[in-house]
Amino acid sequence: KATLTFAGGSAEFPILGATQGASSLDVSSLTRQTGLTALDYGFVNTAATKSKITYIDGDEGILRYRGYPIEQLAAGSTYLEVAWLLIYGELPTADQLGEFDERIRRHTLLHEDLKRFFSALPHTAHPMSVISSALSALSTYYESGADPHDPEHVELTTIRLLAKLPVIAAYAHKKSLGQAFLYPDNKLSFVDNFLKLNFGNMAEDYEINPVLSTALDRLLILHADHEQNASTSTVRLVGSTGANLYASISAGINALSGPLHGGANEAVLEMLGRIQDSGEGVKRFVERVKNKEDGVKLMGFGHRVYKNYDPRAKLVKESATEVLQALGVKDPMLDLAMELEQLALEDDYFKERRLYPNVDFYTGVIYKAMGFPTRMFTVLFAIGRLPGWIAHWREMNLDPQNKIGRPQQLYIGEPERDLPQ
Ligand code: MLT
Repeated sequence: KATLTFAGGSAEFPILGATQGASSLDVSSLTRQTGLTALDYGFVNTAATKSKITYIDGDEGILRYRGYPIEQLAAGSTYLEVAWLLIYGELPTADQLGEFDERIRRHTLLHEDLKRFFSALPHTAHPMSVISSALSALSTYYESGADPHDPEHVELTTIRLLAKLPVIAAYAHKKSLGQAFLYPDNKLSFVDNFLKLNFGNMAEDYEINPVLSTALDRLLILHADHEQNASTSTVRLVGSTGANLYASISAGINALSGPLHGGANEAVLEMLGRIQDSGEGVKRFVERVKNKEDGVKLMGFGHRVYKNYDPRAKLVKESATEVLQALGVKDPMLDLAMELEQLALEDDYFKERRLYPNVDFYTGVIYKAMGFPTRMFTVLFAIGRLPGWIAHWREMNLDPQNKIGRPQQLYIGEPERDLPQ
């Protein structure tokens, strides 16, 4: 047994082979020597996992989907192409992509009864709660008696999820505004259809803005997968029990809704708004972050995995400038964000801690320029992440060695004791 020391105390832990006889180990050396992730404060609540989907090198700031660098995919692919890549492992041929697109267009309609589901919810509901509940509700329409692992069924559910989540998301948005829901317009591309469902209305024709479509498509690509973080691990854990895709992805959406995960893009915009309203200036704000005054945090900075610039954040920043220019929008929040970034990147406090902007830092500014309300930001993250979640669910369930997930727990509580007499 070795004594494992950690922030909150120490505990005895049985270890194997070369490490036997050691008396004190830090957690990462235990992990290295045993190959087991026993308890690692960098990766809490997980056990060791594997996957062929996404590669991240946090030190170098590298992200690849199925081996393809994110920069190349963002420059040359569409979201549906990337969805196919993540789900099926290779880039699609033109025919495969055409058929995939066509099938998704054919499945966008929601059952009419589902409209009553939206009526039952308050208009103040957070759209993330609405979309996660709606996906659970979808399983009541499509899952009765079906084997969730039947390959044909998995295919169909994959298409249905990709087709219907954007529609559900747009309805959550329209509901919050008290506006009528539009039917999907299946002549339009995936992204244009989504934009029309959000910003179109019954009375006028919706004019497609190609700048908006391209930028949104690119943002969805950048969010499409990010290995086994909180939401994706949730999808895998729930899916490992044999739960169907709807139930598993609904659980992932709930995990994503938290402010430490997908909700961070909302929090960034709120932070920028507070700096702007207070008039305190960026310098003073950074000082307050460093002094940890009133628990104030620099939202959208730092990442559990990246100890370098998040490669997605670089691309989002480029898009932010392009989109605002193309839409002719001048948003002081973008200038504020850039000023904040520059100041932080030049400051030893942030340099020593290797804190860089992450994907959430600039996304909100673009979504705002596109016309989305702040509460829809995390929903856009969820639509982007959907193919990644599906790919992970499928990868796990196609593995014949798959077992029900169960993080390994290290007990650090009281030793055995008797009840007081
Ligand atoms: C993500 O894209 O999911 C976020 O960066 C969070 C993470 O990967 O840990």
